[in-house]
Amino acid sequence: MSAAVTVVETTPFAGQKPGTSGLRKKVKVFAQPGYAENFIQSVFDTAGAPANSILVIGGDGRYLNRTVIQIAIRMAAANGYAKVLVGQGGILSTPAASHVIRKYGASGGLILSASHNPGGPDEDFGIKYNIANGGPAPEAVTEAAYARTLTIDQYRIVDTPDIDLDTIGKTDVAGLTVHVIDSVADYAALMETLFDFAAIRANVAAGFTMTFDAMNAVTGPYAHEILENRLGFAKGTVKNGTPLEDFGGHHPDPNMVHAHALFDAMFGAASPDFGAASDGDGDRNLILGRGIFVTPSDSLAMLAANATLAPGYKAGLKGIARSMPTSAAADRVAEALGLPYYETPTGWKFFGNLLDAGMATICGEESAGTGSDHVREKDGLWAVLLWLNILAIRKMPVAELAKEHWAKYGRNYYARHDYEAVESAKADALMSELTGALGALPGKRFGPLTVATADSFAYTDPVDHSTSANQGLRVLFEGGSRVAFRLSGTGTEGATIRVYLERFEPVGGNLAAETPDMLADIITAAEDIAGIARHTGRTKPDVVT
Ligand code: G1P
Ligand code: ZN
Repeated sequence: MSAAVTVVETTPFAGQKPGTSGLRKKVKVFAQPGYAENFIQSVFDTAGAPANSILVIGGDGRYLNRTVIQIAIRMAAANGYAKVLVGQGGILSTPAASHVIRKYGASGGLILSASHNPGGPDEDFGIKYNIANGGPAPEAVTEAAYARTLTIDQYRIVDTPDIDLDTIGKTDVAGLTVHVIDSVADYAALMETLFDFAAIRANVAAGFTMTFDAMNAVTGPYAHEILENRLGFAKGTVKNGTPLEDFGGHHPDPNMVHAHALFDAMFGAASPDFGAASDGDGDRNLILGRGIFVTPSDSLAMLAANATLAPGYKAGLKGIARSMPTSAAADRVAEALGLPYYETPTGWKFFGNLLDAGMATICGEESAGTGSDHVREKDGLWAVLLWLNILAIRKMPVAELAKEHWAKYGRNYYARHDYEAVESAKADALMSELTGALGALPGKRFGPLTVATADSFAYTDPVDHSTSANQGLRVLFEGGSRVAFRLSGTGTEGATIRVYLERFEPVGGNLAAETPDMLADIITAAEDIAGIARHTGRTKPDVVT
């Protein structure tokens, strides 16, 4: 250990409990002296990294990114790491970080991001810890880190000048090798092994067009390199391609509300063939065709159904996994292909064991997350590239592909209604009252719908047999429609109630209707069942996705 190590006395901060995806707080909270240090030290104390390990560090470029990276590197030097790999300029998308951890045999990584939440001095910041498989730390690890935050009394740091994060190359920081790496190169090389770049390039040369909104977040550099430089899409295909500390004042959340310019472009006259966007840290995706929005649940199913058209998946899939709130569209594909399929709790960390065990190849969540066993995170650009690969081979518009898919498997009409910044006590009351009422729901009728089963979703991991209870309340209706209720685990203000609405139309049913019309009965039933207005005073959701 270097002589430059300082042991700093500290006292615990309350509330450093990681949520669905790491510790996420307002910048003002994170900026308190010792706040980030306490959390990082708690992770180092409990992560069990062997001596002389490699640690990967990078983030989505939001406000505080560089500051916390400097702290994390100094603390890594004081905590026995041998080497830190850090993305140039502090930039690494979440999937790229996952890949770098795996490729270089790191013991883990710190990813600095609050994903799709806004950035800037008054907005959000976050720290996620990923383990050696490249995936989010499982609950046992995050719980141990949290427990440590409650008792922490010191952290270790070295006293060094700021490290140059902008020049690729290696420097020594008190005995720690800090290697600033190209943020994009390793990831782009991985994508070339999975997808038929030549076929996509040929399709582009034949006139196929797209638009990609990087939302001034982390995927800009990746998209410029892969879409424009390597695949030959015209310059200007990537919009908002420069990562900004405040994302240009927008929410880097690829949905109809925050990416409305993309929606306008895809539903307007002379729209390109394909439109896509990603979020703050590059793990989410939004997929549009000319005049059509593909729900993330449908995208998962359509990608899985056509995946063997991409070289990386030509041997077939081992299984398909989706989170509970995600529609069952992917299950229909798995059944047709004779593949096992899994329903996990919300959050990518639950897919890690299935991927590591070779039980699933493709996974997805309704919240615009799709990915595969190439890394251990969801991956926005991966989904875009798989779509581009499929479209380059199938040579049909997205709308045609969707129509064909629904005709073969049936259609799961789907929407999520979010009630944001609800007083926590009111949201908790809604959930606990509903939990108490679940037992009496089966057999009850709500308009044309009859409840088949209702439960609080619990999951037993088929690999390590760990259990996770209270993962959302599900009401399943006869015929395959359903509504589910969950409280968000990523918000930083009050509670967010998520209501997941799904209606299944079988093959031969009404497959070309408008989603709001098809969900109307279920929306009414959801209100009757949960009393959203009665509990919260809200009569309509803040965000519909
Ligand atoms: C949300 C999404 C969830 C996703 C997570 C991290 O979590 O719903 O699917 O895994 O963000 O991106 P929530 O706020 O619902 O807990
Ligand atoms: Zn994200």
